Amino acid sequence: TKSGQVTSQDDRNRKDYIDEGRQLLILYGTEYGCSEEVARLLYDKIDALNDKDEEYPLQPRLLNVRDFKLIDWTHEQICFVVISTSGDGVPPTDAIDFYNYLQNTDVVEIREMRFSVLALGDSNYPQFCKVGHTLHERLVTLGGECVVSLTDVDMEDWTVIKSWLDRVTAYLTTAHINPSVDYIRHGDITEDNCSRKTPFVATLKVKRQLTVVETPMDKETVHCEFDVTGSELTWLPGDAVGIYPENNRAEVCCLVLAMKCTGNELGPLPASAYKTQGTPAGDQCLSSVLQKYYDLKSVKPDLLLTLKDHLGNSQEAGKLELLLRDEISKKNTRLYGYLEPREVVDVLEDFPSHTLPWQHILPCLKALQPRYYSIASSPKVDKNTICVTAAVVRYETLGRPRTGVTTTYLQDRLEVGGHCPMFISHNPGFQPPACRSIPIIMIGPGTGIAPFIAFIQERAIEKVSKSSDESFGSGRTLLYFGCRHRDRDYLHREHLEAWSSSGVLELRVAFSRDQAHKVYVQHLLHDDGAQIWALLEKEKAHLYVCGDAKHMAHDVHTTLLDIVQGQGHMTREEAEMYLTDLEASEQYQKDVWV
Ligand code: 2AM
Repeated sequence: TKSGQVTSQDDRNRKDYIDEGRQLLILYGTEYGCSEEVARLLYDKIDALNDKDEEYPLQPRLLNVRDFKLIDWTHEQICFVVISTSGDGVPPTDAIDFYNYLQNTDVVEIREMRFSVLALGDSNYPQFCKVGHTLHERLVTLGGECVVSLTDVDMEDWTVIKSWLDRVTAYLTTAHINPSVDYIRHGDITEDNCSRKTPFVATLKVKRQLTVVETPMDKETVHCEFDVTGSELTWLPGDAVGIYPENNRAEVCCLVLAMKCTGNELGPLPASAYKTQGTPAGDQCLSSVLQKYYDLKSVKPDLLLTLKDHLGNSQEAGKLELLLRDEISKKNTRLYGYLEPREVVDVLEDFPSHTLPWQHILPCLKALQPRYYSIASSPKVDKNTICVTAAVVRYETLGRPRTGVTTTYLQDRLEVGGHCPMFISHNPGFQPPACRSIPIIMIGPGTGIAPFIAFIQERAIEKVSKSSDESFGSGRTLLYFGCRHRDRDYLHREHLEAWSSSGVLELRVAFSRDQAHKVYVQHLLHDDGAQIWALLEKEKAHLYVCGDAKHMAHDVHTTLLDIVQGQGHMTREEAEMYLTDLEASEQYQKDVWV
């Protein structure tokens, strides 16, 4: 074991594997940390149940699904799975191998294993909770018995999460579980230095502004190049990088004041905090812990519940009671309407009479999670440089300026030469075709351009290396980019225009605000309808859409339907089927966000 690279709970798990007791398995697959948080909560709840049974205590084991090879399915009696679905039906990076393994194998014998799946997701996406559903069905097919019904969680709805946890623990208090015969798993929990838990500390070597910002209305987009020499991080075009940011120091100072402490107290890291070579093993000063490891922007209802017994002022107590009067659920619009626009500091400042010790506040906070950005560089150009193109998020609510943590971290706080923990998040559903003779059509307005920079770089390399052998010509490479103004937010203009001049790229750009009427990427697509149809139908071109899901990707999809219907002489339904088939065969791929 490399010291400091596994959490103490993982160490406990390792021991649990050889402990006698009534063993049960908790598996989690996480991208944004929520599934892990829930799994840990279940672990603690089960631990707490143990006081009741001294002889054969319940022995929960907590395992990230990436270590699924340590599981001996024939021995498992009970397994609880907490797993999220990212974007358009994609498993978390760490869960991809497990997901494929379970789908494609029938060697697994899980006969008589009892299980329950908690499926996390975001109902803004069409494939809501798909990964959890697929796992549930697969476990049933393999002979498992579902003991607590499959439960969907929309956007970290803690009411639903808590109800599942309650049903699971209620089940366990009555369930019959045999004490396990001592059995030992062979193999080690993964400890590479490139994963979500143990990110690589990269160095920022270049930072460049990609937009002209004259008024607060102008878009601010920053391009960062990270040196990852020595990391062994590997990625493909289409993959993303997970970046751990740090909070703004000034915001931490305000919070420390609102917590009524100095910031010099020694405070713990969250249980799920990431570890790097430089992470001290023990507690650290509170200010620094808050800056690096806690999410100060989103508030869980737990904070209000904890505040309840620590208010010195009856007016404030009344206000809090009103908020907590109805059930704690997303349906409680009074409560969530209050929490939604507020950060931790806002809530504490709303109840200035509080006497809540900071030690009680920390457990109510979420761990700071990494943010994911499409990688805007190909490893074939430089395997030691990861580039990111990010739109900086700043806005105002409740009369206070607000900021996106990671984008302002990159823009305002991380200096060239500074260090930043990161890891790769693979995106197998968004990749250029392996065969370079297949044409590609890329649609990526705004920062949706990022992955396509990597795509085009690879096409450019192929073009150069194959130019001596014309018979292996590359397929056509088309890009539809969109921005507001040619001379303000035309991201990566020099590169795109150079590729266009040298014949690597067929470039089409929609400027939405350079003329009286809006011109968007889908308008250009529509104009090129006949060509798009020919490329898709005759040349089996791959089509990629990256960027805003709600408006852009939706409108682009509608335009594609129009093209297929018109050019292919189909009915609307036939056109819809056509695009559904293209998606199923991965000829049409999306990497979109809400
Ligand atoms: P707008 O800001 O002028 O509306 C990158 O953000 C580009 O995408 C901008 O030019 C933006 O235009 C444009 N955009 C906004 N909504 C869009 C939509 N529904 N479809 C395509 N492009 C859109």
